[in-house]
Amino acid sequence: MCGIVGYAGPVDGVDALGVVMEGLRRMEYRGYDSAGIVVQAQGALAARKKAGKLANLEELLSLDPLPLAVTAVGHTRWATHGGPTDENAHPHHSADGRLALVHNGIIENYAALRAQLVDEGASFTSETDTEIAAHLVARAYDEVGDLTEAMRLVANQLQGAFTLLALHADVPGTVVGARRNSPLVVGRGKGANFLGSDVAAFIEHTREAIELGQDQVVTITCDSIEVIDFAGAPATTRAYHVDWDARAAEKGGYPNFMAKEIDEQPRAVADTLLGRMDQRGHLALDELRIDASALRSIDKIVVIGCGTASYAGQVAKYAIEHWCRVPTEVELGSEFRYRDPVVTAKTLVVAISQSGETMDTLMAVRHAREQGAKVLAICNTHGSTIPREADAVLYTHAGPEVAVAATKSFLAQVAACYLLGLYLAQLRGNKFEDEVRAILAQLARVPDQIQQVLNSMEPVRALARQMADARVVLFLGRHVGFPVAMEGALKLKELAYIHAEGFAGGELKHGPIALIEPGLPVFVVVPSPRGRDSLHGKVISNIQEIRARGARTIVIAEEGDDAVRPYADTLIQVPRTPTLLAPLVTTVPLQVFAVELAMAKGHDVDQPRNLAKSVTVE
Ligand code: AGP
Repeated sequence: MCGIVGYAGPVDGVDALGVVMEGLRRMEYRGYDSAGIVVQAQGALAARKKAGKLANLEELLSLDPLPLAVTAVGHTRWATHGGPTDENAHPHHSADGRLALVHNGIIENYAALRAQLVDEGASFTSETDTEIAAHLVARAYDEVGDLTEAMRLVANQLQGAFTLLALHADVPGTVVGARRNSPLVVGRGKGANFLGSDVAAFIEHTREAIELGQDQVVTITCDSIEVIDFAGAPATTRAYHVDWDARAAEKGGYPNFMAKEIDEQPRAVADTLLGRMDQRGHLALDELRIDASALRSIDKIVVIGCGTASYAGQVAKYAIEHWCRVPTEVELGSEFRYRDPVVTAKTLVVAISQSGETMDTLMAVRHAREQGAKVLAICNTHGSTIPREADAVLYTHAGPEVAVAATKSFLAQVAACYLLGLYLAQLRGNKFEDEVRAILAQLARVPDQIQQVLNSMEPVRALARQMADARVVLFLGRHVGFPVAMEGALKLKELAYIHAEGFAGGELKHGPIALIEPGLPVFVVVPSPRGRDSLHGKVISNIQEIRARGARTIVIAEEGDDAVRPYADTLIQVPRTPTLLAPLVTTVPLQVFAVELAMAKGHDVDQPRNLAKSVTVE
């Protein structure tokens, strides 16, 4: 997820640079791998861009200023294609430098488009999918002589998720944008107009916004706003007044980043899945320095992570062993190397880390490599240490996760683990291409199912507020519901500072049931009744065991599972998914419960006490 700002102001107006830089400051949370800005002045374009935080760009501008201008476009990057370098920073230019473009999203068919351009003699200075779009829009402009039409023609060629903004040296005072599956909002000012990834881009200047719909092209000047659809017809838009203040705008109107990031989960999972499988169903890893024969010869997989990442690894274990039939262990980063693990050149270590900097996980990766293992990183942060030291990388595309407690990165990690499992299953011959496609089709439906869960969370919020004084909460689950129970307990610990514990349902009778007393709240994550070995029936027995001792049962079960209803003091229903994919929907109520209860207790849910977003010490 990146931050984009566009501005078209009056010829005698303020300097566009200052307006756009201020917008970028308000949207730096959307991405801080690099930043850049381009202005249009005296019939030419002038740009500056720099890897790292926005402050690096500000320093560059102070040393090497841009000319005064009334039209500008800016970008803060969260890397997807290509690492966080100066060359990969936006904006990207056409070959003749007369057009500049910034982009948020993932152009799924960029490889084919790039190959076609190279065949026609184009050369590129970056590894990004964005630069391809810049060349295409410039070429279309040279053909049709109209920037809006050029953008429309190219937008129709692109697949995936994109918000594009472009400036052209020959079209003064004009910014043109296009969006598909990625946000873009217009700010209508007095004598000036704005474009942004969200209203934080221009909230200081205007609260009159226009929301753009899917597949639309927008053209702004200082005194005009025109919107057409990808077919070229005038488009309908929705104007609204923004009643947030600037700080709230950075959170998109949410009370905290935690709530915002929980709601971003459908997009985080969808973007992580986007463009991952080619036409033959082969996984497109971001970086792969492990050849297929080595992956075929793997005889053991060890998934390493800490905290929430380790629970994603536990979900991965069930999926990978079921699909690939390869023994799969899950290890805490902090424990791995101290147990003298048996690791060989035929071991694949999968290191899961949102930040890519967790020292416990990094040290485990180094140990595994010293033992000759191949390492594949699943990470959300481009250019971080763990991916750099891995042999292969599968990036999650959850966008920056600002809140310390992991939410969208967890679901994205689980989705990435499913992709890896399917890739290995197909590569090793355990699954046919059509079987992989069938599961991918089920996965593709999950973002909408997550949205369905998010749309029905008010009762869960009310329950959380009711239980604000709870002192102990237990979480039970079996099969893939067990790591979900552990993750739900961790969320409650981290955010509400309540003693919470996750158990495997079958373990209850081996000791933990002694904890059960009248009124004790217990969440139970129930597997699908369509699963295997009547596990469903065993979980119902678990619920009966705790109810018999007075527990207050809060049951998460799939829609249509009426067998659990008599045993649930509170029943939370989630959409029906295939057994192994259930964590992507059953986790969400537990996240919402934890954040709502913590807010009811007045806690800072974005920065809980004693915690850090990335633990870079052992
Ligand atoms: C999760 O809510 C916590 N913030 C913590 O457990 C986190 O998952 C763990 O520290 C691992 O971080 P990483 O994914 O950045 O490696």
